[in-house]
Amino acid sequence: MSFLALVSGQLYAESVALPDIAERFGTPCYVYSRASLEAAFDEFERSLAGTDSLVCYAIKANSNLAILNLFAQKGAGFDIVSAGELKRALAAGAAPEKIVFSGVGKTADEMRFALDSGIFCFNVESAPELDRLNQVAGGLGKKAPLSLRVNPDVDPRTHPYISTGLKENKFGVAYEDARELYRKAASLPNIEIRGIGCHIGSQILDPDPFFEAADKMLLLTDRLLADGIHLSHIDLGGGFGIRYTDENEPPIGACLLPILKKLQGRRLKLLLEPGRRLVGNAGILLTRIEYLKTGGTRDFAVVDAAMNDLARPALYGAVHDIVPVTPLAGETRSWEIVGPVCESGDFLGHGRALCLKQGDLIVIRSAGAYGMSMSSNYNTRPRAVEIMVDGSRAHLIRRRESLEALYADESILPS
Ligand code: LLP
Repeated sequence: MSFLALVSGQLYAESVALPDIAERFGTPCYVYSRASLEAAFDEFERSLAGTDSLVCYAIKANSNLAILNLFAQKGAGFDIVSAGELKRALAAGAAPEKIVFSGVGKTADEMRFALDSGIFCFNVESAPELDRLNQVAGGLGKKAPLSLRVNPDVDPRTHPYISTGLKENKFGVAYEDARELYRKAASLPNIEIRGIGCHIGSQILDPDPFFEAADKMLLLTDRLLADGIHLSHIDLGGGFGIRYTDENEPPIGACLLPILKKLQGRRLKLLLEPGRRLVGNAGILLTRIEYLKTGGTRDFAVVDAAMNDLARPALYGAVHDIVPVTPLAGETRSWEIVGPVCESGDFLGHGRALCLKQGDLIVIRSAGAYGMSMSSNYNTRPRAVEIMVDGSRAHLIRRRESLEALYADESILPS
């Protein structure tokens, strides 16, 4: 359900009129809905009720402290991929014992920080990483909790840039090598084997690949048991798709119920690492039309948001729905919605049939995931302001960067 509604000809986010937000905080502006964030989390909780499970929000999707704090308050765990994300999670009130650490390139410093913080588990992705973890933990006189991220070689049927569970991807340990690596892990003095995990890709709309991956992982779990290796959890990663335009979003229950059935009688805690599904449709990017540039072979609406604010269209050819804040009754044209950045790839939408006026506000929908978190300062553009609406209130959750802040850490050579 969307948190946007048209009331007396104006678009509202929950009970706040978007023109009021633009007036108060300026544009470009990310707007998130507390109710939508909570509803997205609750959908997982409902489907998992009564089971031994933990939803670890993948921070990379949107790492704003206010969002992390909301999920932490609801009992979420977190999936991190860097020391920065760990620091954020802790600053937002996350329970360290509910944090899993993913990623192919963990440094020794990051491992130390995570061990000192007392995280739940390291999702280890290679043999050399296992060695390093053993060494680092030994240096601290600790045992590192471990889960191997295994690559189940399942096709998630999604965009090639965001499919991660195929053989040719850089992620995880090859399925055929996993048993041996577990045996090695079991022999290491500073490693405590906890679980097994996989993450097959992102924006997955067909639940079948999840079931296929679960089957393969459970088969491996049985083989490990035969080797005398007991696991206490299975982490099936994230990847739950959302509706951007006309996609059929699979209900979380439909994705999880068959998996929960497979887990019956196994005494394995289920971990999930959803990112996009928890935040994607709980956020929009609000932007103002600076110029309407017509008369050439194409008509351009130049807005004040750009690829540095929302990279997904430029990077993946992602299609986000775009709607006017104050819809006009008039003739529509096919608009190229573009930003001010000096790149031909700087577009937010192609060929959108809209009736637009210079100075109007428009909304890029489904921008809550991998929007702000992938933003940059390209063209020395301050990153957008972030707002969270909660009923009739709009809270500033990240102020717009100042221009000075953009070069404050730089210095010129001495003369
Ligand atoms: N766990 C691991 C180990 C991951 O690598 C990811 C995402 C997730 C969980 C969360 O996946 P999600 O539930 O959000 O699909 N920037 C791309 C998406 C990249 C996903 C990277 N890994 C995009 O904008 O579509």
